[in-house]
Amino acid sequence: TTVEWEAESYDMGGHDTYMHKEIHEQVDAVDRVLRGRIDDRFSTVHLGGLNLDAREARGVRRVKILGCGSAYHTGLIGAQLIEELARIPADAEPASEFRYRNPVVDPDTLYIAVSQSGETYDTLAAVQELKRKGARVLGVVNVVGSAIARETDGGVYVHAGPEVCVVSTKCFTNTAVAFALLALHLGRIRDLSVADGKRIIAGLRKLPEQIAEVLRGEEEIKKLAAEYANAKSMMFVGRVRGYPVAREASLKLKEVSYVHAEAYPASELKHGPLALIEPEVPTVAVLPDDDLLEKNRATLEEIKARSGRILAVAHREQEKADHTILVPRNEVELDPILMGIPLQLLAYHTALALGRDIDKPRNLAKSVTVE
Ligand code: AGP
Repeated sequence: TTVEWEAESYDMGGHDTYMHKEIHEQVDAVDRVLRGRIDDRFSTVHLGGLNLDAREARGVRRVKILGCGSAYHTGLIGAQLIEELARIPADAEPASEFRYRNPVVDPDTLYIAVSQSGETYDTLAAVQELKRKGARVLGVVNVVGSAIARETDGGVYVHAGPEVCVVSTKCFTNTAVAFALLALHLGRIRDLSVADGKRIIAGLRKLPEQIAEVLRGEEEIKKLAAEYANAKSMMFVGRVRGYPVAREASLKLKEVSYVHAEAYPASELKHGPLALIEPEVPTVAVLPDDDLLEKNRATLEEIKARSGRILAVAHREQEKADHTILVPRNEVELDPILMGIPLQLLAYHTALALGRDIDKPRNLAKSVTVE
């Protein structure tokens, strides 16, 4: 079965496109994914449908996250959060690759399938392959009762609400928040302290207002989009927490504006992609204020030395950058959630400046239910 949102049946609420509406809905959407789940008494969260008791959670030796496109990118963020907060080795892989490589299925690994629609064929096929081999598979899914939600043993609903635009925005953000909740939950069952649990909960609670603050900077981002819209190609870079954000921002830009973009870990630039840097190929650098900031600044210098233009997304003004989009500070673990949002606006306004069909980019479907 396929679930296609009937675009006409959802009100645009005064916005010109669903993408714009959905970007602005993130304040409420994030509030919704948090609602009713936070447990202040034990500094943890309750995830009703998880179907994984504390004893089972303690027995998990690895986590493997599977999804496609933006869902895979949220998986990269999720894997980092689970490693950081729960100290369980975790990684993410495109479901479309995993299902074809006769994966070794380990009984102590917790598998997590991520999907907005819950109907993506490659992700569903990966779930079915895992189930056939006896694995435990959870879902992090938006559409309630979708195929992946039904096939998995339990999971976390993302509660982003209907996402109509082919290009995922609010669901990406909400899924990243859902992973933060899952990581916090697993962490508090294992070795995450009460103090760290409190710290993350306080950070999560700040997110809706901080998203609103980022969205208030839209006019500025619109000007930057006009300035960069004629780029030959765009390079997106980040290290560790910044890297999945760079991946997602690069996908967002190419899907909706058709501007060619590449994403690389910042440290990989010198291993080849630096050859592409020239004034017509600007770089977007995602620079959380973490212990890698100095290394990231050195990367900016390398780019400047090759006459590259730089647009930084950071918590403070970056002198090596031509422009800095400022994002409010939160807990470092949660930085990827907030830093992706201005780059959704950048993709949106680039597409608008270039006159693209924003809600239905060419060659794409909202859910890919075929092989
Ligand atoms: C997102 O902007 C894309 N259109 C696409 O990568 C999407 O995330 C992917 O096809 C997976 O879809 P799903 O989340 O519904 O499984």
